[in-house]
Amino acid sequence: MRREHNPSPKTTGFFHQILRSIFPDPLIPKSDQERRRYLFKNLILHFRPSTVPEKTLKFSLTWGLGGMAALLIILQFGTGLLLKFVYIPIPVSAYTSIQVLQNEVMFGQLIRNVHHWCANFLVLIVFLHMLRVFFTGAFHPPRQFSWIIGLGLFGLVLTANFTGYLLPYDQLAYWAVTISTGMLEYIPAIGNRLQEIIQGGNEIGPATLSIFFAIHTAVVPMGLIILMAFHFWRIRKSGGLVIPRSSEEEIEKKPVRVTTLPHLLLREVVVALVLIAVVMMVSVFFDVSLGDSANPGLSPNPTKAPWYFAGLQEILLHLHPLFSVFIIPLVLVVTLMGIPYLKYDTNTEGIWFASIKGRRMAMIAGLIAIVAAPMGILADEYLIGFAVGLSWIPNFFGNGLIPFAFIFCGCVGFYILIKHRYSATNNEAIQALFVFILVIFLILTVTGTWFRGPGMKLAWPWKL
Ligand code: HEM
Repeated sequence: MRREHNPSPKTTGFFHQILRSIFPDPLIPKSDQERRRYLFKNLILHFRPSTVPEKTLKFSLTWGLGGMAALLIILQFGTGLLLKFVYIPIPVSAYTSIQVLQNEVMFGQLIRNVHHWCANFLVLIVFLHMLRVFFTGAFHPPRQFSWIIGLGLFGLVLTANFTGYLLPYDQLAYWAVTISTGMLEYIPAIGNRLQEIIQGGNEIGPATLSIFFAIHTAVVPMGLIILMAFHFWRIRKSGGLVIPRSSEEEIEKKPVRVTTLPHLLLREVVVALVLIAVVMMVSVFFDVSLGDSANPGLSPNPTKAPWYFAGLQEILLHLHPLFSVFIIPLVLVVTLMGIPYLKYDTNTEGIWFASIKGRRMAMIAGLIAIVAAPMGILADEYLIGFAVGLSWIPNFFGNGLIPFAFIFCGCVGFYILIKHRYSATNNEAIQALFVFILVIFLILTVTGTWFRGPGMKLAWPWKL
């Protein structure tokens, strides 16, 4: 029998009305069709589809990573807004305003900690989200454009982190940004001009701080809001998330659907609460440090870029700057953007690692990279040059074109070899190559972050 929806006197209050508009009334009709119609009017369902394919609720499909990224961005907006009440974006006051925040403002240190840790988690979570999208083939049509917008979001997250890095204006901030913006001058033709525009002059100073502050607090948030809205809209237009399946299963034409409320929302709330708990625990136990005030005349040794640029800085130690700062990043970005548009043998959307063989090939590619990358780093540090006697070759060739051609041919050779060795589809071979490059980049990042000491020489982390 149909149950009428009679609001009780309790639900007529202002807050109850708001709550009722967010969460459904317990007296909602029970039949599926009526329930769907009722739920459709609900506030949350103006943002979400009223039903979702049941199989996409499986946690191991997404690990909740996209939602976590969205939540971290919201936390960043909230804590950033609070920080703005105290922070002063002028070099002489920026550092002291952070001191005041930490020492005199109630919960000031905690708010700074939450903002700092969320920013770092965000880079990590967005990166993992990108990997899960790649490894479940969720970039295949019709989701190619969601992938491209996602890359734009990743760029914005990195920009947010990088511009925020300078704001405390301590030694670490000043010199990390000096190193990173210094890399720009190696971009041919426009490098110097670009560096000047970003720095607002020839060196880091008041103009840089106000440019970084404007980008950090206005340009990036606006870009994030626009691109996130676009990202979510595209995901819905593509029919929601990919549906997990095994390599033998066909793409389901009409999947079984369940209502978003409570099935999806409940899961999202649980993930959100766990993430908030982790962020709070880390923020309570690990204070963000504030070094000495920025001193343009005294550079720390070593001067390192932020960890998410440590891989690039590490490449800079091995290759000519034109290749490490311009050509390699350009090739990487273009390759990432091209991933959905390559010609694939099969549509592997929803299948983890494309197939069982694909998973095995990915593991083998990862293992080869784990051995090859440290060997390459050590060889370049201690052997090449002496052994090969390359010192007579101009730097552009000896440290640039020749190793670059070697790396390029190595990647192409790796692709051809692994494809033939395993009689693989090109989906599986492209994935193996992706893993190979990914693991090398991760090893470069770890080396740059933890294994570089004074003079950027290799050193054990515990001896730094
Ligand atoms: C601020 C950054 C980002 C946010 C907030 C975000 C948010 C989300 C959310 C909430 C979803 C649906 C649930 C999930 O997959 O966990 C999703 C799906 C998706 N995202 Fe992102 N994302 C971001 C960055 C990226 C990046 C870097 C990429 C790839 C380069 C990407 C590509 C995709 C694609 C293709 C889907 C659809 C996946 C599928 O159908 O299974 N996103 N994103």
